[in-house]
Amino acid sequence: MTQTAPALVMGAGAVGCWIGGCLQAAGVPVTFVGRARVLDALRRDGLQLTDLDGAARHLPARTLDLRESADGAPAPALVLLCVKSGATASAGAELARALPPGTLVVSMQNGVSNAAVAQAAAPALTVLPGMVPFNVAELAPGHYHRGTGATGAALAAQDHALLRPWQARFGAAGVPLQLHADLASLQWGKLLLNLNNAVNALSGLPLRAQLLQRDYRACMAALIDEALAALRAAGIAPAKLTPLPPAALPGALRLPTMLFRVLAARLLRIDAKARTSMADDLVHGRATEIDALCGEVVRLARRHGMAAPVNERISALVRAWPADPRPRSGAELRAALGV
Ligand SMILES: NC(=O)c1ccc[n+]([C@@H]2O[C@H](COP(=O)([O-])OP(=O)(O)OC[C@H]3O[C@@H](n4cnc5c(N)ncnc54)[C@H](OP(=O)(O)O)[C@@H]3O)[C@@H](O)[C@H]2O)c1
Repeated sequence: MTQTAPALVMGAGAVGCWIGGCLQAAGVPVTFVGRARVLDALRRDGLQLTDLDGAARHLPARTLDLRESADGAPAPALVLLCVKSGATASAGAELARALPPGTLVVSMQNGVSNAAVAQAAAPALTVLPGMVPFNVAELAPGHYHRGTGATGAALAAQDHALLRPWQARFGAAGVPLQLHADLASLQWGKLLLNLNNAVNALSGLPLRAQLLQRDYRACMAALIDEALAALRAAGIAPAKLTPLPPAALPGALRLPTMLFRVLAARLLRIDAKARTSMADDLVHGRATEIDALCGEVVRLARRHGMAAPVNERISALVRAWPADPRPRSGAELRAALGV
């Protein structure tokens, strides 16, 4: 790889602007493909990156390569696919039209199926699954903030010879990249934690405030219980992404808040600004990723002759939000989910 091997972010939003911005700040030429709503702010004010450890960086507008389509972009050596799950197939098809066969694409998306969906839409490209272990929120147009995770928390992706040379670049950019022979276990480990996205979105609260209410945690615990049962039936062992093993999460979540605070001190290292992107999606009337998260649990359970009624019920509540946009208290949500 030469010094100037360029990257392309497909879907310049929270995750894409954060990771792409970190790479560009470390000297990687990055093309950002996104919507006018996002790009206009970047054209005006540049890209501002902050994190919960107090780090702050600014990339001036004149240094940013901003495009509304991948067509005509400089051929990238690496594409970071950073659209929401519902946009994966169309983004994949656009990349297929715009990029040379064999171009490496890493899905930095949540869920467990996005890389396969993108690969199906772009059979000539090489699409790998990836995983982002922290939360990034758009605090203001052009301002992206990492609100959880330790400095240097590693991104993950499936191992591939074409990706290995990028590890040094990611490391130098402060977003180390670990490569794994099989990403499924990590993706499912992340999905277990992402089941809280629906709880958080329906609570209307910032993430930390929501997690400090036992009733909401009981909802998250019930969603995880169902997922763990389906995973056991499927023979999938989800990876441990918190200090507690996945099987211990429901019990810990159900503890009284005083005990939970002590036990989950690292998990609660979340600043007051952090919120899930599903909460933003509900507020802004955008499609959510509920089908790629709770929906995936429902489908896995069904494939193994089981049901996941709590995941089904919360999916229905998220889908009903546009007609009934009402934040639920913890007690209301527990009652609605029957947990
Ligand atoms: N935010 C986080 O903390 C976080 C952490 C870990 C993983 N993730 C995962 O990362 C993925 C991205 O999440 P995000 O929060 O970064 O989403 P986001 O802020 O909504 O960013 C995605 C952006 O891509 C745009 N887009 C969609 N299709 C496009 C296309 N064909 N061309 C150009 N732009 C396109 C979207 O526009 P439209 O709104 O018009 O579609 C949106 O502006 C999701 O799978 C999410 O679960 C997020």
